[in-house]
Amino acid sequence: MKLWGGRFTKETNQLVFNFNASITFDQKLFRQDIDGSIAHVSMLAKQEILTDVEKDTIIKGLLSIKEDILNGTLAIDETQEDIHSFVESTLINRIGEAGKKLHTGRSRNDQVALDMKLYTRDEVLHVNDLCKDLLVVINQIMKDNLDTYMPGFTHLQKAQPITLSHHMGAYFEMFKRDRSRLIDIYNRMNYSPIGSGALAGTTYPLDREYTASLLGFAGPTLNSMDSVADRDYLIEFLSALSIIMMHLSRFCEEIIIWNSNEYQFVEIDDAYSTGSSIMPQKKNPDIAELVRGKTGRVYGSLMSLLTTMKGLPLAYNKDMQEDKELTFDAIDTVKGCLALFTGMLATMKFNKSTMVLSAKNGFTNATDAADYLVNHGVAFRDAHGIVGQLVLYCIEKGIALDEMTLEEFKSISPVFDSDIYDAISLETCVEKRNIIGAPGKVAMEKVIQHNETYLKA
Ligand code: ARG
Repeated sequence: MKLWGGRFTKETNQLVFNFNASITFDQKLFRQDIDGSIAHVSMLAKQEILTDVEKDTIIKGLLSIKEDILNGTLAIDETQEDIHSFVESTLINRIGEAGKKLHTGRSRNDQVALDMKLYTRDEVLHVNDLCKDLLVVINQIMKDNLDTYMPGFTHLQKAQPITLSHHMGAYFEMFKRDRSRLIDIYNRMNYSPIGSGALAGTTYPLDREYTASLLGFAGPTLNSMDSVADRDYLIEFLSALSIIMMHLSRFCEEIIIWNSNEYQFVEIDDAYSTGSSIMPQKKNPDIAELVRGKTGRVYGSLMSLLTTMKGLPLAYNKDMQEDKELTFDAIDTVKGCLALFTGMLATMKFNKSTMVLSAKNGFTNATDAADYLVNHGVAFRDAHGIVGQLVLYCIEKGIALDEMTLEEFKSISPVFDSDIYDAISLETCVEKRNIIGAPGKVAMEKVIQHNETYLKA
């Protein structure tokens, strides 16, 4: 059933109809469309715009439609223009005259704004939960690896020793911020647009506060034009999703490097890796690569919607129908990536001895050697130069700093004494860094305590 045939004398060109229709993708909104309609008619009856009998008949009809779609006995008819037309026409077929009153005091413009808000509001929480699942896994790895020394990198060059716990802690902070962004978005978007009509509200005495409260909103939106023209909440959500993907992608990039034949810091579980059709020895990190790859696709959705919205005059314009496919795709992509990534991380094996060996072999203790000299009265800039000479000497001899004899140390600077070995041991380098945020065990235990309180809240 077409909702708008009255003022037309010709049939719609079929290509125009197809181009204009959104049912192939907005059918995802059938639950929200029905729930929104139920709240709307409940309010209409409370305001005595519909009778209680009409309201009950409509609600019964709407619930039967929802149930039949869910149990597969009612197929969504893709020859309809959109999900709103499908629900309304099915309702009229099922209950007759009362069904024709459903759309009283409403436009598809505030209806679709409501449906999309209800849909994304739930999805914000789903993504938030998936981020939490990931944080639980990260926190467990942190707890298990307080003593797993590894090199920390800058420029992908070994820099200073840290622990695996500390490295994982960086990702904990990222996904924790992602969750707080999602909650911010939820709170900001949680106002109901229904009752805004096409753009100018309506003359019916609607109780918008009541409809909003039935649907769990904090209240009604305050400008009817903005209500039907606002897609900020989708842009914010796509932006938060893009940042989540950016974090996942960086994590994946590290896992791909760590899983490489050269590093061998980790081994991805067989269940989360794939083989090659020609090279029998291969075990590839495809899941990590795909998550990294799909990041571009989610950014694309964000850029696409920003661009769609940038030139739109108030209020509703059909351009906005383009919000759906890209939002749905981004949500599904991010949820899939989060779930798979969490599984991959939870089953990944860390080659702790390889990590420790790597930390020992890259002069990651050079800064601490310089600090040693400073503690013995040498100015830092001079100490930096002396340790530079030590490193050069070791590179030529193919040894690590702590493999130098004391005589060798002294030949470069007489300030060195036998306590230098303890001062530059991996354990000292890490464990002396115990200010909050640093990799030392005492500091990390405090952070993990924070994490646990946070995860319980
Ligand atoms: N399918 C439309 C959308 O997604 C629904 C709103 C239609 N409103 C209109 N005035 N044509 O935006």
